[in-house]
Amino acid sequence: MDAGLNTSGVKQEIFLKDYTSPAFMAETVDLLFDLDEDTAIVTSRVTYKRMDSGQSNLVLNGGEFMKLLSVNLDGHLLGEDAYVVTEETLTVKSVPDVFTLTIQTELYPADNTRLEGLYKSGGNFCTQCEAEGFRHITYFPDRPDVMAVYTVRIEADKARYPILLSNGNPGKTGDLPEGRHFAEWYDPYPKPSYLFAVVAGNLGVLSDTYKTKSGKRVDLNIYAAEADLEKCHHAMAALKASMKWDEDVFGLEYDLDVYNILAVGDFNMGAMENKGLNVFNTKYVLASPETATDADFDHVEGVIGHEYFHNWTGNRVTCRDWFQLSLKEGLTVFRDQEFSSDLGSRALKRIDDVRLLRAAQFPEDAGPLAHSVRPDHYVEINNFYTATVYNKGAEVIRMMHRLIGAQAFRKGMELYFNRHDGQAVTCDDFAAAMQDSSGKNLDQFKLWYSQAGTPTLTVTRERDGGDILLTVHQSCPPTPGQPEKEPNHLPFLMGWIGPNGEPLEPACSNGVWQEDGCLLEISNSTETFRFKDVPTGSVPSLLRTFTAPVHLKHDLSKEEKLFLMSHDRDPFARWDITQDLLRVEILRLVDSYKDGKAQETVDKDVLDAFGTVLADESADPAFIAELILLPSENDLGQYMDVIKPEEIYLARTQFISQVADAHRDIVLERYKKCREMLENQAQYSLDKNSKGLRRLSNTLLGFIKQTSSGEDVCCEHYNNATNMTDQFAALSVIASSEFQCRNEILANFYHQWKGEDLVIDKWFMAQAMSRRDDALENIVNLIDHPDFSLTNPNRMRSLVMVFAGQNQRHFHANDGRGYNFLAEIIVKVDKVNPQVAARLVAPLGRWKKLDPHRQKLMKTSLDAILNAKHISDDVGELVAKSLA
Ligand code: PHE
Ligand code: ZN
Repeated sequence: MDAGLNTSGVKQEIFLKDYTSPAFMAETVDLLFDLDEDTAIVTSRVTYKRMDSGQSNLVLNGGEFMKLLSVNLDGHLLGEDAYVVTEETLTVKSVPDVFTLTIQTELYPADNTRLEGLYKSGGNFCTQCEAEGFRHITYFPDRPDVMAVYTVRIEADKARYPILLSNGNPGKTGDLPEGRHFAEWYDPYPKPSYLFAVVAGNLGVLSDTYKTKSGKRVDLNIYAAEADLEKCHHAMAALKASMKWDEDVFGLEYDLDVYNILAVGDFNMGAMENKGLNVFNTKYVLASPETATDADFDHVEGVIGHEYFHNWTGNRVTCRDWFQLSLKEGLTVFRDQEFSSDLGSRALKRIDDVRLLRAAQFPEDAGPLAHSVRPDHYVEINNFYTATVYNKGAEVIRMMHRLIGAQAFRKGMELYFNRHDGQAVTCDDFAAAMQDSSGKNLDQFKLWYSQAGTPTLTVTRERDGGDILLTVHQSCPPTPGQPEKEPNHLPFLMGWIGPNGEPLEPACSNGVWQEDGCLLEISNSTETFRFKDVPTGSVPSLLRTFTAPVHLKHDLSKEEKLFLMSHDRDPFARWDITQDLLRVEILRLVDSYKDGKAQETVDKDVLDAFGTVLADESADPAFIAELILLPSENDLGQYMDVIKPEEIYLARTQFISQVADAHRDIVLERYKKCREMLENQAQYSLDKNSKGLRRLSNTLLGFIKQTSSGEDVCCEHYNNATNMTDQFAALSVIASSEFQCRNEILANFYHQWKGEDLVIDKWFMAQAMSRRDDALENIVNLIDHPDFSLTNPNRMRSLVMVFAGQNQRHFHANDGRGYNFLAEIIVKVDKVNPQVAARLVAPLGRWKKLDPHRQKLMKTSLDAILNAKHISDDVGELVAKSLA
């Protein structure tokens, strides 16, 4: 197919500029779900009201994967001449101004491998309606600006499906003939269809209660397989913490009597914020020390928070259309980031988030799939749940927060809810609330919503007597459909470190000193700032806390970076300059490769600085771990004109080996100390200190691996592990090694955890990340492993996505085997689950950054996907764009 061409059966590209408000509003929706083992009959009774007198017909979305049984208008069964059914719509002709339409449809949830609409997971029924899943349940104006009040009744076999849930508050329940029962639910808040959910299953429940700040009691329930309930306590604690945080920080309270969460093993994404009934991927609910890493625990907390925060930012106020997706996602990611920062460490959280932005969003913005935070056209909306909409979207909110200040931001949020509660609105409406609360003009700022691409800021310095003139120049590369860019409006936070390592605050003509640095506002393509009386030898600390999502270029020398590394008191800035230093150094090694050999070795000063960091006992161990974690191979590749996957792998490994050689004793010593401190603790703990010690010792394993005692230490680490953080850290290192113990340990891990799906995912992941020479062959063979599955998204991602996204060395194998492998899987998965297949396309599309030989191989693989039979719109859109 060709994205945008409407040959039969292919979706038309749609444009933001074509938006028109709904011709009919749905006011109340009554749904009856009559569930059988494999099929379901849905009766929907909807009252409609005409909004546009020019439209005599009612057009509803729906059709695929369901059967229309009957249509009834105001109590009269309609004959087939009264409506028209196409593949994707039902049009009821000449309807009155106000009427009730009752439609019966038959669904086949047991065959639904797309995991969209009504489907089965682990024998239980659940739904996924965002973005356009509701149209696979019944015919409806399936667009977010149609908001209605829903009443739901579910009927099912009582023994097989004792738990029956939907949105809102619980109503009547009771028994029915033939061993069946029913439950009714009523959601008083008008909502768009994408927030609808229904669940029927045999589930255990973990319950608790929360009292809101105005004294209302809320029942909290997490539903999961009985055997998994003991792993739900962390999620429950996170839920209560989220509820409290939103009250404290934004004054926002929960608004229903119950908050239900369901954990399912088959889910396309992380989780879903359905009103009063969140559905979660088990990965973001279940956590026990034995089966989940510290990072997993953090992710559970973050995603629980994220979905909870959607109750206001997304549900009470929703999106007018899907182009506005970042209205709810960017804002809610920002809110969950702030929540996690407040609960844990702000600096570490910021480092994680920036690392993710650079790893996932920057390449997207630099490639063929680049799009703005508010895209203005698409074929398949599912393809726009991206790092740009989510993570860059969150950065856009963060910049607003910085530009207008925390107080005005909070006032702006209040204004936003006062104006728009119960409405479906746009990103412009949000910005208007912020502008009105602060008095700051955000017109130019809003370019962040419409312009794609990552701007580059180039900072230069010039001395003028005692002053320093600091010039910031900005530019942004062309992206598809956007050849020219206008300058952005952005906050640029910076500091100065004096010649003796002390923080300085030189007056700045057009900058404002705040608690964490001097805030410069940039809006022209070139701006100069005068800092008064800056002593010779002072060094600027640039773009503190990463106040804008940009590439930063500067003229700092190696010596100045080393100076900042040891003196900057801003932890984020210290981490970032260390990454910069390491990146430049490793890339120097990459450049020196000739005939398969590096002509250079690691710079002595850099090695020494690394030693100083390793030996620093005063800093938080988790922070040391961040400092010594080298830029990933992918990250390094982004800074090259032409990515050299093998050389990057070799240079990075060489760097690790030289550090391990030069600082062998410190590394081992530090490692031992961390382990001793952990062993002295009475029991496993998730407190900050223990997590830090685990993080540091586990990061050190990567260096120890390269020493002569590597195998002993790593295998012992594995064998002594009493929690998944340690066990998985060792497994990852060992899986990628030539150690004797490797196969035995992989087998051991598999047998220990067989049946624990989320842990077996890790077993696949460790092998997908292996850089061993034979790794690709092993990965290809794992597709035939009995535990591999094309239908389970988590399993798919843990092998295929991790390989294609994170194993640069083998994905870019010179003979194209990595590309072929991915292309073949995409075609296969597409038949089962187009959304999951589409998410695998991006790595193949980034061919412009490789050499001509690989470019050709990558394009051949993309062509092969395009030429396969019956490819979905999801995959088709991305492949077509990737080839353009
Ligand atoms: N809206 C969900 C979230 O971000 C993500 C999601 C999108 C889930 C589409 C399922 C389908 O919280
Ligand atoms: Zn979200």
